Amino acid sequence: MKYVVLIAASLLLPAGAQSSWILPGAGGKLAATQDYPNALGSLRLQVQGGPVDMASNPFFAPLGANGRACVTCHQPINAMSVSALSARQRWQQYGDSDALFAAYDGSNCPDLPQDKAESHSLLLSKGLIRIARSWPPRDLQGHVITPDFRIEVVRDPTGCNTSKIYGLNSPNPQISVFRRPRMVANFKYVVATGFNDDPKDGLPLPTDPLSGKLASRNLMADARVLTLKEQMRDAAVTHLQRTKPLTAEQESQIEDLEMRLFTAQQSGPGGDEQSGGASGGTDALANGLAGRLGDQTRPVWSEYAAWAKAADNPALTPVQRAFRLSVARGAKIFRDRTFLITDSAGINYPIGFGNPVRNSCVFCHNMSQMGMDVAPGQVDLGTTTLPFADPQPDLPLFKITCLGQPHPFYGKVIYTHDPGYALTTGRCVDVGKITLQSLRGLAARAPYFSNGMAKDLRAVVDYYNRRYNIGYTEQEKQDLVNLLSVL
Ligand code: HEC
Ligand code: HEC
Repeated sequence: MKYVVLIAASLLLPAGAQSSWILPGAGGKLAATQDYPNALGSLRLQVQGGPVDMASNPFFAPLGANGRACVTCHQPINAMSVSALSARQRWQQYGDSDALFAAYDGSNCPDLPQDKAESHSLLLSKGLIRIARSWPPRDLQGHVITPDFRIEVVRDPTGCNTSKIYGLNSPNPQISVFRRPRMVANFKYVVATGFNDDPKDGLPLPTDPLSGKLASRNLMADARVLTLKEQMRDAAVTHLQRTKPLTAEQESQIEDLEMRLFTAQQSGPGGDEQSGGASGGTDALANGLAGRLGDQTRPVWSEYAAWAKAADNPALTPVQRAFRLSVARGAKIFRDRTFLITDSAGINYPIGFGNPVRNSCVFCHNMSQMGMDVAPGQVDLGTTTLPFADPQPDLPLFKITCLGQPHPFYGKVIYTHDPGYALTTGRCVDVGKITLQSLRGLAARAPYFSNGMAKDLRAVVDYYNRRYNIGYTEQEKQDLVNLLSVL
């Protein structure tokens, strides 16, 4: 049954998409600008100062034991992430011989039979990669952090959290959570800092020991690394199963490339120059005001105000006119349509906004061109934690018991699929907090949220509508979906 659905879904992707898949060590050039088709139009990847010779850049090289390269999970056609659709297409054609499905984290657990689709069900259905965090948590110097909560495995559909080798009670205790690959692009904004502290947990921003500079605390769902260098060291030993450290030269080459990649949806259905035309697309990202604070004079997505005049544009077809008007409305709804934000740690606590606070999408997603938050820090939207998360019987479920202060909103006992930031800090108050990421290139990288809970953009909007009891009309929902689809 499952396979019928898989094959039908693959027909949604325009021809040529498969040939854009970059294999480790394939060589060739990554063009300075290249457009990649997707179901909602096309995405652009721009390499500032490009093209890049892929044969000599370690980002594209199989550096470890499992034949994977960084590009295996950070593919241009998927906005430098990997969509669940791409994972299914790779499986259909190549099965577990494709390095994407490497047992270590491309399967539900390394000790499962690797030739069976069921063993890779989370990657195939939701594009999820296994992330194993040591328990108790350790800081970046390897010192054990004493957590202020106890964690138990309540449900273990993948078998990995109760596994004798990989589980919580194994000789090397670990918590396995399952997360979407985050985009490797637009980092000029992601790693910049504009603040000295993190208002969302009321603590100073950490200093990167390598550079001595403040770190943005904006990488990875649980902010377990501070910088791109620390991130790639972690990625090399886990995702690539590399046994030797990367050389200093390889690290610089990877970071240099990462900082030059910019991606955004470029055109909409039917080849209409949508976001590229209105927002300036990747050019505007590459040339935009550097830094986390971005261009504060330009409210997020205000570029699309120009599309409110689409009705007077005779060059457009009626369908294009209606679409542009809808996107322009969506941008206004994103900024202006308010609702009560409740029980979201990082926003309603400990900052002085109170609980609830009336605001809109832009309260959390306010960075011009990017849609992250200019203020650093993690937020609990409820996407990984009960009772707010949609039912996800395929994900592990943990019971957290706060040993000191109870959680301000969940109380003493919390049920979660992914404790998020709490796996880094060991603090009960951080359970369920996830680092926001940019809203660019969404059309190319479904599903959404760190645990892939929202299968499409409509499911994202429906989640917010339920979570905060917003009461969006059908039209408002569609306008928001259309906006998100052109970013
Ligand atoms: C098996 C798939 C896989 C491979 C291979 C892989 N990554 Fe990732 N990458 C991920 C996942 C999953 C995340 C998100 C992890 C999380 O949030 O905890 C991620 C996150 C990142 C991030 C953080 C982006 C952000 O905005 O937070 C960077 C940077 C990154 N990867 C770079 C690399 C580099 C460099 C390599 C090669 C050394 C690499 N990745 C190899 C899956 C992969
Ligand atoms: C209280 C803060 C907050 C508000 C308000 C908010 N968001 Fe979010 N948003 C987040 C956080 C935190 C995440 C990351 C959650 C995760 O990955 O599980 C997120 C993730 C997303 C994503 C998924 C991004 C991805 O790469 O998977 C989209 C799309 C999104 N938000 C759109 C919206 C829209 C539309 C609204 C208004 C209806 C909105 N957000 C309101 C905090 C917020």
